[in-house]
Amino acid sequence: MGTVPLLSETSAMLGIESSCDETAAAIVRGGEVIESNVVASQEDLHARFGGIVPEVASRRHVEQLTLVVQQALDDARMGWDDLSAIAVTNGPGLIGSLVVGVAAAKAYAYASRLPLVGVNHIEAHVHAAALRHPGGVSPAATAGIEYPAVCLVASGGHCDLLHVRRPGQYHLIGCALDDAPGEAFDKAARLLGLGYPGGPAIEAAARGGDATAVGLPRPRVRDTLDFSFSGLKTALVRALEGARPWPRVADLAASFQAAVIDTLVRNTMRACEETRARGLTVSGGVAANSALRESMARAAAKRGVPFAVAPPKLCTDNAAMVAAAGFQVLARRGPDDLALEVFSTLPLAERSTA
Ligand code: KG4
Ligand code: ZN
Repeated sequence: MGTVPLLSETSAMLGIESSCDETAAAIVRGGEVIESNVVASQEDLHARFGGIVPEVASRRHVEQLTLVVQQALDDARMGWDDLSAIAVTNGPGLIGSLVVGVAAAKAYAYASRLPLVGVNHIEAHVHAAALRHPGGVSPAATAGIEYPAVCLVASGGHCDLLHVRRPGQYHLIGCALDDAPGEAFDKAARLLGLGYPGGPAIEAAARGGDATAVGLPRPRVRDTLDFSFSGLKTALVRALEGARPWPRVADLAASFQAAVIDTLVRNTMRACEETRARGLTVSGGVAANSALRESMARAAAKRGVPFAVAPPKLCTDNAAMVAAAGFQVLARRGPDDLALEVFSTLPLAERSTA
């Protein structure tokens, strides 16, 4: 760890993201203004396997990474001299994928003599809600997130309910004990023959479906704010067994989507009440779901909690959120050195009660 470099609201940060199946690079000024945001998705590559194949993902990152970084510089009309620092996701994620982004970031930092900072992928998702994006500013940027805040990060690998007392101070007050909600969507979509990735496929199939047609549980984990979504898939299988006639796929998708959303909204609202939150953000790939966005916005408005959610494109994996988080992390604790490691699991916060 080195000295904290001087950063200003015009400092441009290059963000690099390769923790899963998106190769991404972005340039963000002052921690919130997006100058460029390039995402090379591997969706098509993994769709034929019905899920992510780690070895295939790493190889594609190797092919794409330098191209994506150059595109991010070109889109922002910038060269290396215009940058102040480089931020890279160094966990949690697939080790082989993370290594590609971190090795490249180290090489760029060494060659350009720019400070390097490792960013936690979950903290990056939290920052998505505060990014300004082309065509307007996100609700968080206009309203300004008030603290203490509750942040829900719901993605394919995570479901973390965070209590944020002030920027950068996170406490984990609830998490997924088994499947993450995105994983639940992906498994349900496979069961219903809807393809990969499952979240967008279920959302599309659910349009025009009746969410009350198939009775599914809203799982609770005793008296905690934790989540358990694996039983929902089993409940869906049971609902299909022996059902004559088979329910319509639209009804099954709508019922499953409603069960996931109700569970996420219930725990998040309880977290807001218990922490007396003055702000709420929701991010992660699952927050791209419009039914979840509407349901969360309604529930927050009913309780008078200001609510911010990033545009769908910034909810799924991208590097703008990495650059935004990197700006804060660099100001908070200074740069990392070239021995920066990668971690498949990397808790953002200590577990604590609300
Ligand atoms: O945040 P993300 O891009 O990657 C991880 O960090 O995991 O999240 C990907 C997950 C996938 O499981 C995908 O099915 C889900 O987010 N997802 C959605 C939607 N778009 C992506 N889930 C529900 N509705 C959506 N529209
Ligand atoms: Zn993610």
